[in-house]
Amino acid sequence: MKILITGGAGYIGSHTIIEIIQNTEWEIISLDNYANSSGDSYTRVENITGKKVKHYNVDLKDLGATEKVFEENPGINGIIHFAAFKAVGESVEQPLMYYDNNINTLNNILRCQAKYNVPNIIFSSSCSVYGNVDELPVTENNKLSKPESPYAYTKQIGEVMVDDFLKANKNLKAISLRYFNPVGAHITGFNGELSSTKPNNLVPFITQTAIGKLEKLTVFGSDYETRDGTCVRDYIHVSDIANAHVLALDCLIKEKLDLSHDIINLGTGVGVTVLEAIKAFEKVSGKSLNYSIGDRRDGDVAAIYANNEKAHKILGWIPQYNLEDMMLSAWKWEQYIF
Ligand code: UD1
Repeated sequence: MKILITGGAGYIGSHTIIEIIQNTEWEIISLDNYANSSGDSYTRVENITGKKVKHYNVDLKDLGATEKVFEENPGINGIIHFAAFKAVGESVEQPLMYYDNNINTLNNILRCQAKYNVPNIIFSSSCSVYGNVDELPVTENNKLSKPESPYAYTKQIGEVMVDDFLKANKNLKAISLRYFNPVGAHITGFNGELSSTKPNNLVPFITQTAIGKLEKLTVFGSDYETRDGTCVRDYIHVSDIANAHVLALDCLIKEKLDLSHDIINLGTGVGVTVLEAIKAFEKVSGKSLNYSIGDRRDGDVAAIYANNEKAHKILGWIPQYNLEDMMLSAWKWEQYIF
């Protein structure tokens, strides 16, 4: 099996490559333009797995350059499309950058899927498509509310694009995976999230504050209607997310899917507040974190966590890591790259 991975040098992409190498015989071709990553990821993957990854420096917005990769690698059986911008706050500040990148890259990869007749695609979606929900935990059947950020809207549009595309291309199949909050690092501590800019997400912010790269963490709002007033999220270990991609693609390849496009939540099913996440970090690291309460952040929803029964039923997926594993691996990684 030949699998093309877009955004393979990125956080979830690189962890997925590790899972693929360690659990399958699939041949990997990775594309990335290093917009929020670097080619060093492949060295880290090689250090962990002992295998080199075939990779290209390609911007998926460039259709010609993307097609060239398909021409050079005929017979691709599946695509995992990670490449996208993903920071909620940044998307509120720079909406057009998000629409331009996230929509055009998906458009081009779907064009290539049709042109080169690649039967299967996994699309990285997000729980942010649900917006603010009335009922928790959220199932895949929950109606999608107004997106709270341009990032979230690009994922709603992306799912619709995949849907419409498959209606017109009945021989092709897809699974959209709605990630909740992927965090943590490879359990060895030798691969993790390496953002080229200041981190946007909570866990890198916590670890960088603890190690002294950042002065302090601001908790965005403590007046939400949650048990301690801070936002509730479903944090999920990045290697569990990665493993779900292997299972999802395997399910498509083995033609086990009834629908042409199915949508599956990836979360632990456990809601955790920002303050609880900080406490878990303090416990495993033995460090006390410098943080204070600040204003709410634009684009944030108050509380969301997954009903993950569908992932269990269709993919046979059960998350292996708990919150403390997530925090400890993230902390190991931060110390490794310091
Ligand atoms: C969002 C999406 C998620 C997506 C992710 C990609 C939602 C519900 N979730 O996660 O699907 O995969 O973006 O980046 O929209 N926080 C602080 N201080 C900080 C940073 C964060 O208090 O310095 C808080 C946030 O307000 C939030 C929580 O920590 O309550 C998690 O934030 P973050 O890690 O940025 O992820 P989301 O925005 O929840």
